[in-house]
Amino acid sequence: VAVRLVDYRPADFLIDAVALDISLDRTASKVVATLSLRRNPKGAPGAPLSLDGDDLTLVGVKLDGRPLGPQDYTAAPDHLLLEKVPDGPFTLEIETRVDPSANTQLSGLYRSGSAYCTQCEAEGFRRITYFLDRPDVLSVYTTRVEGDKGEAPILLSNGNPVKSGNLPDGRHYAVWRDPFPKPSYLFALVGGDLGALRDSFTTMSGRKIDLAIYVEHGKEARATYAMDALKRSMRWDEEKFGREYDLDVFNIVAVSDFNMGAMENKGLNIFNDKYVLASPETATDGDYAGIEGVIAHEYFHNWTGNRITCRDWFQLCLKEGLTVFRDQEFSADMRSRAVERIGDVRGLRLAQFPEDGGPLAHPVRPEVYHEINNFYTATVYEKGAEIVRMLRTLIGDETFRRGMDIYFERFDGTAATVEDYLSCFAEASGRDLSHFALWYSQAGTPILSTEGAYDPQAKTFSLTLKQHTPPTPGQSEKKPLVVPVAFALFGENGEKLELASPDARADELARGLIELTDAERKITFAGVASRPVVSALRGFSAPVRLEPAPESADLEKLLACDDDPFNRWQAAQSLALRAIFARVDAAKKGAQTPQAPGFIGALRTILAGADADPAFAAQALSLPSEIDLAREAGHDVDPDVLFSARYGLREEIGRALGADAEPIYRRLSDAGPYSPDAASAGRRMLKALALDLVAAGDPEKGSALARSQFAAAGNMTDRLGALTLLALLGGEAREAAFAAFYEQYKGDALVLDKWFSLQATIPEPATTKRVVDLMRHPDFSLTNPNRVRSLIGAFSNANLTGFHALDGSGYDLLTRIVLELDPKNPQLAARLLSALRSWRTLEPRRRGLIEERLRHIAAQGNLSPDTKDIATRALS
Ligand code: ARG
Ligand code: ZN
Repeated sequence: VAVRLVDYRPADFLIDAVALDISLDRTASKVVATLSLRRNPKGAPGAPLSLDGDDLTLVGVKLDGRPLGPQDYTAAPDHLLLEKVPDGPFTLEIETRVDPSANTQLSGLYRSGSAYCTQCEAEGFRRITYFLDRPDVLSVYTTRVEGDKGEAPILLSNGNPVKSGNLPDGRHYAVWRDPFPKPSYLFALVGGDLGALRDSFTTMSGRKIDLAIYVEHGKEARATYAMDALKRSMRWDEEKFGREYDLDVFNIVAVSDFNMGAMENKGLNIFNDKYVLASPETATDGDYAGIEGVIAHEYFHNWTGNRITCRDWFQLCLKEGLTVFRDQEFSADMRSRAVERIGDVRGLRLAQFPEDGGPLAHPVRPEVYHEINNFYTATVYEKGAEIVRMLRTLIGDETFRRGMDIYFERFDGTAATVEDYLSCFAEASGRDLSHFALWYSQAGTPILSTEGAYDPQAKTFSLTLKQHTPPTPGQSEKKPLVVPVAFALFGENGEKLELASPDARADELARGLIELTDAERKITFAGVASRPVVSALRGFSAPVRLEPAPESADLEKLLACDDDPFNRWQAAQSLALRAIFARVDAAKKGAQTPQAPGFIGALRTILAGADADPAFAAQALSLPSEIDLAREAGHDVDPDVLFSARYGLREEIGRALGADAEPIYRRLSDAGPYSPDAASAGRRMLKALALDLVAAGDPEKGSALARSQFAAAGNMTDRLGALTLLALLGGEAREAAFAAFYEQYKGDALVLDKWFSLQATIPEPATTKRVVDLMRHPDFSLTNPNRVRSLIGAFSNANLTGFHALDGSGYDLLTRIVLELDPKNPQLAARLLSALRSWRTLEPRRRGLIEERLRHIAAQGNLSPDTKDIATRALS
């Protein structure tokens, strides 16, 4: 069934308080929910009470303490309906039974390892008890959890601990109370035998908060970095947004079976353990950064998501886009702002641009959905964060902060909308934001173009900016958006020019920020002594595609002189793309392979200056990935052709720069003990890049260096880096390294995930068979989402040539897994299937093969709503 934003109406009832009594049992957990209900003054008068359920078994219902008979209600696994209820306040006591062991969907109450845990966002609470399972019904929860003392010595829920005690038959209980009204999706419960890392944090007003991170026994030390990140997040939110933590305790639990990254349940965050556990021996620099970001993200939700929640699921970006923006800013403050921005934009282009340009495109605030779980997307999260960033860019940092203050002040304790949010910034800035708001409702990535004309006589330079947005499903006509274009002009000697023009407002010129609000705008700058170089969309000031890229000579100049590091990186990327596509064109025409001396010269300069900012240099020296190439090509994509062109350029660069790279590699090899900080991570990134350059020019030498690095590595970043190179180089050395890696880490699930992933991404035809064989490996399992993603997700999303093999074997593999997984874990199946979202950009043969599989999937009876929705939309 389609759910539409325009159909929103308030609930007919409110639930002021919920008392839950949950007795944990592996197959028959008993749930007694006592709801304090009353009619919503904003609801339909006299309406029946209709509660949501999903897969529930009802045991009994009492109204104001009186047991009801079957004539008083209708109950089904998916709803409980009471036609007649009192007009005044009343209580309803509902008893249900749930089987956590049979819950393979990982939504509701389920088991991960030997622990009980929950995941209620978006609609999992209705798998625990009948409820008004919608985010605009806010209640105060008191939760009593009971369990076996041996099986579950730890019993946790939201809020503050109230009391606990022993019971007969080896059981015990704990009562938790959360004084902050919250929607049901923020409910959580954990029971299990877990170890804890404990700490405390004193808030800005001097309140001492007890912190704990619960993990598998023996892994407590691996939560140290997460704990440190949590305390830094708490401090940062006080300093940057004035937000103080509000309960007496803050608990985090790491579980190994989790559909997503983590969940911000009030006072009890539940995490995929991948975003908690780290040690130098088992986690890479990327893993450490991921932990820091996700810990911050979930913590920041306490205000943006929990204290102020969403009126309905169409407003998901209200909490997610804003919270991603906040975690990005946190990481930028903790690490390097430039490197963070480059990484965030790479992520946006990798995941969101293809979504926005294909059949699954939807607005940041969608207007219709069939399955809300399919809308936890890169568009809602990452493009949602870009909208918040643009807003800040437009109104300025201070006004933005004032708007946030108004938002927290005015909407605390409510379920808000995007309009509510924007109204705070309209008030703070005095601006009309109604045109800006179009970013929330119009899907698709706008294309921005710039055209410059220099008049040497008049000494003027005219810059014409144009925007247009290609059509997306259901939106054929697009309007111009408010696009903030940060820009600068550079003169002959690389100096930044003063801007003077009658066509722009003084504040636009002073800030170097042009606001493009129409389809086209022309600005003529006066007093320009020679043809300038334009640096546009600095810092990636809007989530658009800038096309075409400046001409190569200008890019080389920007690479040398731009004081915006993002655009310096962008210049290197644009040059690389141009060099690769020149090879693609030559290959298509059967012409001689073009060389790229200008580009290689520019890379040599970056390499020579790499010590000044190793992380930046490594980013600038990295070629765009094959996925980047496929996206930039946009149509008739032949992955094999893209792969050879990229691989050929890599060799050309290696032959030219390998000798320069080797001493850098050797110098960086002697780094001392591991530290996860950004500067050290940057040096390791540069070292990996240098090794790749050596290997690209001289595979034998590269292999020898990689083998010794693999054997001697003192941390996972270096070990996995070496293994990545050996995997690419192939042969005996590769197989030996994979075997040794397995032997060393076979007891560690998170490290084994890396072992599976890396094999799935080997760019050669034999990989499909390798993946099929790995599915029969004793360590492979379809029930663990991390493991499925590490093998199947990596193969279908990150191995362009392997997955898109012309015999269709990759597509068959994905089809088989999706259909096998669908009845067990539909959320995961649907997500895996969305790997096919860009199928129409492929060349005709592959397009045909995928279409056949999509039709086959869509035609299955009994398909979950999740997978059905993706298959149907992908074909639309
Ligand atoms: N709110 C969580 C986060 O952003 C994501 C949970 C989504 N879960 C789901 N099954 N849809 O951190
Ligand atoms: Zn979130």
